[in-house]
Amino acid sequence: MNDTYDVIIVGSGAADLTAAIALAEHCRVLVLAKGELTGGSTAWAQGGIAAVLDAGDTFENHIEDTMVAGASLNRRETVEFVVENAPASIERLVEMGVPFNKDSDALHLTREGGHSHRRIVHVDDATGWAVQAALLKTAEAHPNITLLPGQACIDLITGRHEERYSGSGRVWGVYALDEKSGKVRAHVGRATILASGGAGRVYQFSTAPRGATGDGIAMAWRAGARVSNMEMMQFHPTCLYNLEVKNFLITEAVRGEGGLLKHPVTGHRYMPDYDERAELAPRDIVARANDDQIKRYGLDYVHLDISHLDPDFVAGHFPNIYDKLLTLGLDMTKQPIPVVPAQHYTCGGILIDLDGRTDLPGLYAAGECTESGLHGANRLASNSLLECFVFGEAAAKDIIARWDALDPPPIRAWDESRVTDSDEEVIIKQNWTEIRRFMWNYVGIVRTTKRLERAQHRINMMTHEVEDYYGHFRVTTDLIELRNLLQCADLIVKSALHRKESRGLHYTLDYPAMLPQAVDTVLVP
Ligand code: FAD
Ligand code: SIN
Repeated sequence: MNDTYDVIIVGSGAADLTAAIALAEHCRVLVLAKGELTGGSTAWAQGGIAAVLDAGDTFENHIEDTMVAGASLNRRETVEFVVENAPASIERLVEMGVPFNKDSDALHLTREGGHSHRRIVHVDDATGWAVQAALLKTAEAHPNITLLPGQACIDLITGRHEERYSGSGRVWGVYALDEKSGKVRAHVGRATILASGGAGRVYQFSTAPRGATGDGIAMAWRAGARVSNMEMMQFHPTCLYNLEVKNFLITEAVRGEGGLLKHPVTGHRYMPDYDERAELAPRDIVARANDDQIKRYGLDYVHLDISHLDPDFVAGHFPNIYDKLLTLGLDMTKQPIPVVPAQHYTCGGILIDLDGRTDLPGLYAAGECTESGLHGANRLASNSLLECFVFGEAAAKDIIARWDALDPPPIRAWDESRVTDSDEEVIIKQNWTEIRRFMWNYVGIVRTTKRLERAQHRINMMTHEVEDYYGHFRVTTDLIELRNLLQCADLIVKSALHRKESRGLHYTLDYPAMLPQAVDTVLVP
């Protein structure tokens, strides 16, 4: 049996819930999320949200900083749209009860790399958790929003799934695996929003949560939507180096408030040797510098040191990081923190316009799974949550504005007649591990054509194996994710091979110069 709602939303993070809340006054919305409702990156965000809120700052400054960080690959009209809508987005969050830190009456503004002014609102060093909680509370209270966790979406419903082909070209929702019962159901709607987050888990080391496997990007691509700038994978310079605790981010705000990067043996503060903005240079530059130090001197990590500042200030400003490190036996008010770069953010994704529309009628996308033109070749810190709020809202507005009388046609049930239960789950684990390893080694911070070609060769071989497996066995969340990870790896490598220059996050030894013209890498299915 099909579930029919007005709008189907894939994901329950910042972009998804913003859209759901904005739509719920007008129509019935179904929010589907694999795993738990708090499983996306949103809940993990630390630093905060960028917005011009200080009298000494201007929209032009924020626009300029975004374009400089993005190496001018950004689309200026998108940057203007997001920056100008930022204060209103923050106001809505305040109304929803997000307890942003304050400095007497005004919101406290912290600073991060690439920002010329203090403009990051935050809730201590755990902004994402507070935002996720406020959005969820608002969504849960609305009678028009149904939140359904434990649903791993597999593919979009398109014309070929209609019982009688209507020729509308519309996307009518998704097929999703109920992770508890193992059954696949069609969830049908007049409009569908993909807000399924990034593809960070395509890399061995990433700050992103387990479910960041690029599902929405892969689904949209398979359904026929273009994707753009997938080679622009962002690496965060400062992920904790610890053999037991993997993927723990040390927020960029630590550098914003005065933290220094140092060689762990000599104590030399090296960032001024790389860039005049030193520790506050944009992320791509700092991540490359850390990578260079580690490789050049054969180090396991570099040091991030904020122990020269007042201990009460440090512990008070970064309470979660401070507590977490204490549990690992490290006191950041007295000792430097060992850090390494790790994948952090997917700048490329499904191509959308200013209304969140994709190439496919009825299909919208918002947040980290998209390429809206905001980030260009490198995302400016704390612009990502902001993008989620602005585009979640924009997609909802456009859906309401275009409402028509076209009802979804009858949709075919998921066909399981030719598959059986898997007897070789080991293939999934093996391939997961292999992709993530070769992507880290061959498609990382510094690239070469030869390494990219090696990665492409492996992807081609694995694609045959995984598609064969997918065709014969019942789907599981692991299999869905593996198929999507592989699809995203392919899009990343193809895009990287296409770009014959170094720009922002894409740095290749074979083409070290930046070309005069900034051109998007747009892949067409
Ligand atoms: P997410 O929040 O990632 O949510 C994706 C949702 O989609 C999840 O609910 C997931 O379960 C669901 N989903 C995925 N695939 C499927 C599927 N197949 N079926 C069903 N559901 C699916 N940005 C900032 O601006 N400021 C910060 O301070 C900041 N700090 C960060 C710190 C960390 C550690 C990380 C990892 C990221 C940080 N970012 C920050 C980036 C930012 O958090 C994310 O880009 C943003 O939260 C993405 O939101 P989203 O709504 O697009 O997706
Ligand atoms: C951080 O707190 O360093 C992450 C900020 C971001 O990803 O924008």
